[in-house]
Amino acid sequence: MTAISPHASVSAPASEARTSGRVFNFGAGPSTLPDDVLKQIQQDVWNYRGSGIGILELSHRGKEYDKLIAEIDDDLRAIGNIPRNYKILFMTGGATSQNYIVPANLLPPGGTADHIVTGYWAENTLADARQYASCSNTKATIHVAATSADKNHSYIPADADIKYSASQGRGGPTYVHITSNNTIYGTQWHRLPKIPEGAFLVSDACSDFFWKPIDVTKFGVIYGGAQKNMGTTGCSFIVIRDDILERANKDIPRMLQYGVFSREESRPNTPPTFAIYTVGLMAKWIKAQGGLAALEKLNREKAGLVYAALDANTGFYTPHVRKEDRSFMNITFACKGVGAKEGGGGMEMDARFLADAGKAGLAVLKGHRAMGHGGGMRASLYNAMPLAGAQALAEFIGDFAKKNG
Ligand SMILES: Cc1ncc(COP(=O)(O)O)c(C=O)c1O
Repeated sequence: MTAISPHASVSAPASEARTSGRVFNFGAGPSTLPDDVLKQIQQDVWNYRGSGIGILELSHRGKEYDKLIAEIDDDLRAIGNIPRNYKILFMTGGATSQNYIVPANLLPPGGTADHIVTGYWAENTLADARQYASCSNTKATIHVAATSADKNHSYIPADADIKYSASQGRGGPTYVHITSNNTIYGTQWHRLPKIPEGAFLVSDACSDFFWKPIDVTKFGVIYGGAQKNMGTTGCSFIVIRDDILERANKDIPRMLQYGVFSREESRPNTPPTFAIYTVGLMAKWIKAQGGLAALEKLNREKAGLVYAALDANTGFYTPHVRKEDRSFMNITFACKGVGAKEGGGGMEMDARFLADAGKAGLAVLKGHRAMGHGGGMRASLYNAMPLAGAQALAEFIGDFAKKNG
């Protein structure tokens, strides 16, 4: 494979606007991929590493694929500082399928899982875990330890507001589930909750894994779909500590068992080879950028530019999230009620913002309907969004407010 070189445009200034006919894609996932990764894919679709066979056609039992998955495992460990006593697994069904795969594997009979519910995906996780508990014979309990629903998920609960099951007269939880970044509402955990002794932390890190270096040993399980910071759609990643993996339930169907995926190198059946290969390319690209520390610096700079533009125009825009809980990945905001009915949240102005941004090559900025008021705007600034994209958006935010304020 051609080495993935440092991506020229990832830190290039906005003045070097895109010339390739592509726009800046602020979509929340599937999301933008680095140019170098896309070019490598173009080559490999035709002929993967000189094998004469394209990546879409490559056997998951052949020696090229053996080499590929070993390389991906090594690269992810090196970049993410993932210790050897954790396994990295790939499954299908996205992060959403982990909503039942996690309790199916990890909840012992009669066990309890505590959930901290900080957004749309966390609510789905809770509902699916409860459904699992209710229809299985595990007699498991799913307990809500805290929720930010009272303020439309615009903040992350403080430790003092988290009431674990142990304090409610039940046994302590086996694990505590959090969603590290709330893609739709735009909050992010910038500290970890203090969890009860004996429990481990399970994190849905679908939209912020690999945005910066983290201490993996603080977690029992980290999972997500790869389609944001890590690659494209079709595979989910699971990073799981060995002792948790070893005691995972074995009386569930084979295709749900983490143990089976671990023993069979994430290929008990035909795996999503292309999606897994793309994770490998992203890993090489991250390495070429200087690793996660370099990406964190860049990600902070990108988000800083956009938040600064919003904060400089508070008469015109309303950011959704409390300042200290703002996400570096997904920035959510709306225009104030200009030209809209009282309480209308500036929906007409939002629509104009989105249309004008689209004309300026700033695409897929519409917020999620769960936000209410038509969704407002959401700018996703994952690893592959170049600095120029954030600069262009920040400039546009300022100019639009001047023109329409
Ligand atoms: C935090 C979070 N969890 C879960 C999901 C669902 O992921 P998937 O579509 O891979 O099931 C998403 C998707 O955006 C997400 O952002």
